[in-house]
Formats: sequence, structure tokens, C-alpha cells
Amino acid sequence: MSIQRRLAVSITLVLLLSLALGGALTYWHVVAKVRTEMRAALAVGAQTAAKALDNTGGTDPAKQLARIVAEFDGDRHVRAVLLGANGAILAQSELLRPEAPAPRWFFSLVAGPSAQAAVSLPGPFQPLGRLELEADAHNEVAEAWSDLLLTSGIMALFFSMVLGLAFWTIRHALRPVQDLRGALSRIGTGDYTVRMNPDIYSELEPLRAGFDAMAERLEAMRAQNQDLHEQILSLQEEERAELARDLHDDVAPFLFSVGADAAMIRQFLSDGAAQQAAPRADSIVESVRHMQKHLKSVLRRLAPETLIDLGLAGAIDNLCDFWRLRRPDITFSLEITEDSPEPPLDAVAFRVVQESLSNAIRHGNPKSVQIRIRNDGQQITVQVTDDGSGLAQGRTAPGFGLASMRERVKAVGGRLVIENSPRGRGVIVSAELPIRESTRLEQPV
Ligand SMILES: Nc1ncnc2c1ncn2[C@@H]1O[C@H](COP(=O)(O)OP(=O)(O)O)[C@@H](O)[C@H]1O
Ligand SMILES: [Mg+2]
Repeated sequence: MSIQRRLAVSITLVLLLSLALGGALTYWHVVAKVRTEMRAALAVGAQTAAKALDNTGGTDPAKQLARIVAEFDGDRHVRAVLLGANGAILAQSELLRPEAPAPRWFFSLVAGPSAQAAVSLPGPFQPLGRLELEADAHNEVAEAWSDLLLTSGIMALFFSMVLGLAFWTIRHALRPVQDLRGALSRIGTGDYTVRMNPDIYSELEPLRAGFDAMAERLEAMRAQNQDLHEQILSLQEEERAELARDLHDDVAPFLFSVGADAAMIRQFLSDGAAQQAAPRADSIVESVRHMQKHLKSVLRRLAPETLIDLGLAGAIDNLCDFWRLRRPDITFSLEITEDSPEPPLDAVAFRVVQESLSNAIRHGNPKSVQIRIRNDGQQITVQVTDDGSGLAQGRTAPGFGLASMRERVKAVGGRLVIENSPRGRGVIVSAELPIRESTRLEQPV
């Protein structure tokens, strides 16, 4: 249910409840008031009639009675009726007619039974008949009805104003949420330049500030990412150019000389001068030796030299020895399963350990560093844990080391998590490298 609909339902419920309560109270009040008024009017009427009857003044009693009845003409609540001895109406006064009478249902709801009072006639009047006063509630009820209409009108106006104002406020209050939705979908499409409208309710200001800060940070991170990407690309380009130069300068001349020597040997053999072929064959052996040496140096640049010579466990052992020598105050522990991973996962694992170790030592100042490598046949799990100062919260700008580690792990379809240790101190670097046939072909590291 939308906020607007919920609000409309709540306000309508309050309105209905107020109407029901107000209606009950008003009904009770009007009924009591009509009764009291009628009783009072009858009492006043009886007094007036009695006073007029006292004052006989020698006039004709029949005329005097008729005048007394006529005096009640135009009264709002009381009608005077003169009845003959046989009960026939001899004369009666005219009530004042209500200007706007109440509907009949309302009258019968609140009027109650009509009240009468007989006026006792002094001696000279008695043979003339009986004088009765009747209370008539029509005027009183009409007054209550018009009061009720006015009150209901005011209430309806009040509630429609409250409803309108609540809708208007909600619509305005929700506008920033719509803005936020639009801004988030633009962020989703990669547009990090989007910012929220600063003209916003103060309650929503933290939301706006948070969103803008997030967009700024995303923008900065994208720029940084792009820089790092460019750095990595240019490094790769440089590496490739250097390799090409090495192969061209150091291997190509030997290949050429091998070709030339082989051609000469064939010539010597066809000329029957086999003994002259021997030095050329020696030269070929020498060239091949040179090329092997160069090839090995190229391979060492492509993959860490120790990996080729010692395998992953040996290479990491070597790395630890290197650091133990320089930082005897730090304890290095190594736990590694026997199954050494295949290239390129071994090289990725080695690079992760190498960078994590040097980060821990350079930035964390730890007492101990733990390296764990497990191979469960499905994936290689590499974990480097230190107990140093940990990543400075919010202030750790990812540098080239972390970025290239991430790149390497991503290139073999793995997952890298770098986080502060949940046990308090230090950093945990965890890499999960899935073992797939295809990873061997994807990227030589
Ligand atoms: N083990 C660690 N302990 C503390 N801080 C670390 C650790 N590893 C990384 N950091 C923080 O992360 C930052 C980025 O690391 P990195 O990308 O390797 O760049 P660099 O080592 O060249 O500074 C470091 O400058 C450092 O602040
Ligand atoms: Mg580093």
C-alpha cells in the first residue's frame, strides 16, 4: 500500500470515528436540551396564563379568556388551547412557524413525547371550559438541526483541508525519493557524475550527502582504476617490447648462424670434406648453448626463476628465508600441501604470497606472518595472515601491488579478498584459484 493511500485511509477512519462519537454526543445533548426547553417553556407559559387570569379587571370573562389564548400567538414553543365543556376546541393560539424546519426523521429522533399542562381557571372562568398549554418542539428541533448542519459543514471543511495538506506534504516529501531512484538508476548505468538536488528537507539531508559522497567516491575509484589499468597495460607493453628486443638481439643471430653452419655442413658433406664439417657442428652446439641460456633468462622473466627451479613450495620457502634473514624479529610459518599447482596457478599463488608478504612487512610491522596453501583438487586456496597494524579504515588507497594481485587472480577466474582480521589485529589476504583445464591455456603469467 502506498503512503498516500495509507494516509487517506487513516484520516478517513479518524473522520468516521469522530463523526460517530460526535453524533452520539450531539444526539444525547439535543434530546436533553429539547426536553429542558419544553419543560421551561410550559412553566413560563403556565405562569403567564395564571397572571393574566388573576387580573380579572371586571371585563367579560369569555373575552378575557380569548385574549389570553391570543396572547400566545407567535410563541415559539407553547400553544394555548381553550376547550369547551364537551372537549371541542373553542380557540387556540398560532405557534411561530420555523423558518427552516428539520427533516421529519430528525424530529422524531430527538423530539420525544409532547408535554401538556392544564391551567386551573379561577371561579368566574370555570363554566367557560378548560385552558390547556401544549409544548411543541418543532422550533427547538429546527434550531438544533441548523446548528448540526453548521457544525458538520465546519468539520467536513476541516477534514478536507487536513487531507489535502497531508497529501501535499507527502507528495513533496517523497519527491527526493523519486530523485534518488532516478539518480541510482543513472549510477547503475555508470554515470557517476549524477548528484542529488540540494533543495531537500533537512531530515533527508544525510541521505543526499551520503549519496553524493558515494557517487564522488565511485567517480574517483573509476578514475583510479583507469589509471591503474593504463599503468598495467603500459607495463605489459614495455615487458613485451623488451622481450621482443631480447629475442631479436640475443636469439635471432644465433639462429641465423645455426642455419648458416648447417648449410655449410651440407656443402662440406656433398664435397666429401667431412673433416671440415666438425668445427661448424661445434659452432652449432655453441650457438644452441647460447640460445638455451637466453631462453632460460626469458623464461625467468616470464615466471619467477625460483618457481621454475624449485616448484611453488620451494619458491615460497626461499621467499621466507629471504625475509627471515632481513627481519629476524618476525616469525614466518608456512603450511603447504604437497600437490604443487600447475602453471599458471602456481605463479599466481606465488605472486599473491610475494606481494602479501612484502605488504605485511612494509606496512603492517607484524610479529608473525602465516602462509597457508591448500590444493583440494578443485581449487588452490592461498591465505596470508599477518598480525600487524591492519588496513587503515577508509584511508587505504589501493596501490599498484593490490591492483596487480587482483588482476592476476581475476585472470585465472579466481576470487581475492583482502580484509582486516576478524580477531583484532592484522590483515588476511585470501585467494581462491579454481583449477580448470582451460586456465592453463588462458594466460601465461
Ligand atoms: N598487510 C598490510 N598491513 C597494513 N596495511 C596494508 C597491508 N597490505 C596493504 N596495506 C595498505 O594498502 C596500501 C596499498 O597496498 P599496495 O597496493 O600493495 O601498494 P603499496 O604497497 O605500493 O603501497 C598500502 O599502502 C597500505 O596502506
Ligand atoms: Mg605493496
